[in-house]
Amino acid sequence: MRNFIIDTDTASDDAVAIVMMLRAKDINVQAITCVAGNLDLPKTVRNALLSVQFAGTYKPPVYAGAAKPMFRELMHVEDCPHGEDGFGNTFYPDAEQKAEKEHAVDKIIELVKNATEDIEILALGPLTNLALAVVLAPDVMKKVKRITAMGGQFKMMNDCTPNAEFNIWQDAEATKIVLESGIPITLCPLDICYGTTEIDRADREKLRSFHTQVGDFFIDCNACLLQYNIDSYDKDIISMPDPTAAAVVIAPDMVEDYRECHAEIEVKSPDGYGQLLYDFRHLSGKPINCTLITKINPDRFKQLVFDTASY
Ligand code: BDR
Ligand code: CA
Repeated sequence: MRNFIIDTDTASDDAVAIVMMLRAKDINVQAITCVAGNLDLPKTVRNALLSVQFAGTYKPPVYAGAAKPMFRELMHVEDCPHGEDGFGNTFYPDAEQKAEKEHAVDKIIELVKNATEDIEILALGPLTNLALAVVLAPDVMKKVKRITAMGGQFKMMNDCTPNAEFNIWQDAEATKIVLESGIPITLCPLDICYGTTEIDRADREKLRSFHTQVGDFFIDCNACLLQYNIDSYDKDIISMPDPTAAAVVIAPDMVEDYRECHAEIEVKSPDGYGQLLYDFRHLSGKPINCTLITKINPDRFKQLVFDTASY
């Protein structure tokens, strides 16, 4: 078994990723820690609990963490592309499971400190919780084997500002702390979750054809994201950023190309805030701190989504 903490600002694509992780055979999710990002914190906690319920497997404890970025206010929650509830405006009733009392950051530190086996983190939202854990317990957090994060971009359009991807941009100071923490980081950028990995109409029909609760959930909770992609990009697809990061964790041999590099982030310039800078040619001589995934196998990715939803 591989042990994971999932850190998430649970909206609709986070939910698909959480269900994939909970249904993966050789993965043990020890905790789900929530952070404000797509939505305010209470909504992310509510949606994380619902995701666990829809997965229908075991029930990792769910913790609430940072309610805002480290040094700025939370941005873009009113116009969240995942809907007012983050779940396609389905407004499902609350899950039966309740959130735990401890703070997510304390729990992350405790789990890492007491881990007797390797422990990894899958990060699906802004990196605020993880940065706070690094600030409070830098030596403990160095025990984390790897953080795999959905975040950044390298050559395609961005989804937030002209220069930045949402998770990285929402709390760029936190991203900086995590990049400088000494923990190995795998970044799954926007580039690998558009194009051939998009869930198109035929894929959605296939998901519906399973007649499963999970298959329907994947489509229903992503209804607003689908509409957002139609309205913004004229594309009849559901993009799956967080599930691509989950897929990289669940089936690493799905990765077809990647770059090892030194990555830094701009936090000062107002226009460049949140822009990632990659030193692919090692010109700076600075140490490698980032594995940037540049290609995953789209058929295998979709098959994993289908397999997850097929029962
Ligand atoms: C990221 O931002 C959020 O909208 C998604 O959940 C994903 O984590 C994509 O930029
Ligand atoms: Ca997310």
